[in-house]
Amino acid sequence: MVGEVAVSGAKNAAVAIIPAVLLSDGICRIENVPAISDVNVIIKILYELGAYVKVIDNTTVEIDPTHINSHILSASMSSKMRASSYFIGAMLGRFKKAKVAPPGGCDFGVRPIDQHIKGFEALGATVTIDGGMVHAHASELVGSSIYLDKVSVGATVNIMLAAVKARGLTIIENAAREPHIVDLANFLNSMGANIMGAGTDVIKIRGVSSLHGTTYSVIPDQIEAGTYMLAAAITGGDLTITNVIPKHLESISAKLIECGAEVIEYDEAVRVIMNRRPKTCNVLTMPHPGFPTDMQPQMTTLLALSDGVSVMTEGVWDNRFKYVDQLTLMGAKIKVDGKVAIINGVERLSAAPVKATDLRAGAAMVLAGLAADGKTEIENVEFIDRGYDNIVEKLSAVGADIRRVTYIDPLTSRSAV
Ligand code: EPZ
Repeated sequence: MVGEVAVSGAKNAAVAIIPAVLLSDGICRIENVPAISDVNVIIKILYELGAYVKVIDNTTVEIDPTHINSHILSASMSSKMRASSYFIGAMLGRFKKAKVAPPGGCDFGVRPIDQHIKGFEALGATVTIDGGMVHAHASELVGSSIYLDKVSVGATVNIMLAAVKARGLTIIENAAREPHIVDLANFLNSMGANIMGAGTDVIKIRGVSSLHGTTYSVIPDQIEAGTYMLAAAITGGDLTITNVIPKHLESISAKLIECGAEVIEYDEAVRVIMNRRPKTCNVLTMPHPGFPTDMQPQMTTLLALSDGVSVMTEGVWDNRFKYVDQLTLMGAKIKVDGKVAIINGVERLSAAPVKATDLRAGAAMVLAGLAADGKTEIENVEFIDRGYDNIVEKLSAVGADIRRVTYIDPLTSRSAV
């Protein structure tokens, strides 16, 4: 594939920023919002809570949260995604109470929220789980020091949301450092919050009495960008991925260079050129600035075609190799043992009917299909649509032979690509 692909706004920033609008006393205009189903769901949740939502265009939305008067999120609203847990922190910050059904999200094994709860309790909230709902309430939220036992994006986000209007200073130690944490902090500060240190492992939040409306543009999606970088590598192509922040892609660029790709960085773009079979390399996924776990399935797929044996170690999730069975159907030779996959590179993958087992696994199936001989059909593409804005159109525009096939599977009524 040859050409240019423009990256959309970051899913994991947008799904944290939109619940944060709940904390505002005025209208918030959010720009560069990705057109993906997770964002549509989270906007719909705010609308169903009573917000006035005005869609300006397919990447800009104006939200007036001032009429929201509900602190309850039902299972039907909360179970669709992981980010719905952010409404606990946002509702605590606004109403000092929240009643939220446990979140959904990709299945990588256990996805606890004990660190979220640890943070809420440190701020003075009482949190109980009863009847399948998380109940949180506080007479007053008071700043505190919180050490996260595990680096957690979600806990860092949720504690920030609960702390921005708490009385006094909150310090989050061992905080997540992902780009979307920084983006949320910048968004909250544009509303009048006082947050320092986002992007480091110590975040300081001085509570303020109110937050005003704002206009804010979401950062580019690090993982969407990385996925298209690997699309260039796996097809032996030459792609320029635009609307990116190269600094966010450093670990991905480094691994691609190890695999024999040429990576050229510009101010707001990266160009990936691959003229050879990928070389082997070993990868360990870690919290930012390590190699992102959300790039693990895509990288494993590239290494499945490498010229030797590679080791992929999943350093964040307990069970994030479910998609390997699907790659095996296409001829990959990968042995999984717990958090480690031994990848024995093969010359070619062969097309097969495969399933997206979750969002990033689905993206990996697309990459495998782009490289394989023959026509690969991927089922359950709604997983991919959760996090990739117009993936079929973007890849077609640079030469991929990919199209969305809408047929109704009598058993699951799912669609395929
Ligand atoms: C966010 O999930 C992302 N989702 C995930 O991306 C991403 O894989 C993950 O961060 C890691 O980067 C969103 O931002 C919406 P964590 P989150 O809390 O917040 C353990 C995608 O593809 N943990 O950082 O749920 C947890 O079990 C999605 O876009 C606790 O033990 O992840 C895991 O082992 C998939 N207790 C580790 O920490 C807690 O209270 C990291 O989880 C919270 C987490």
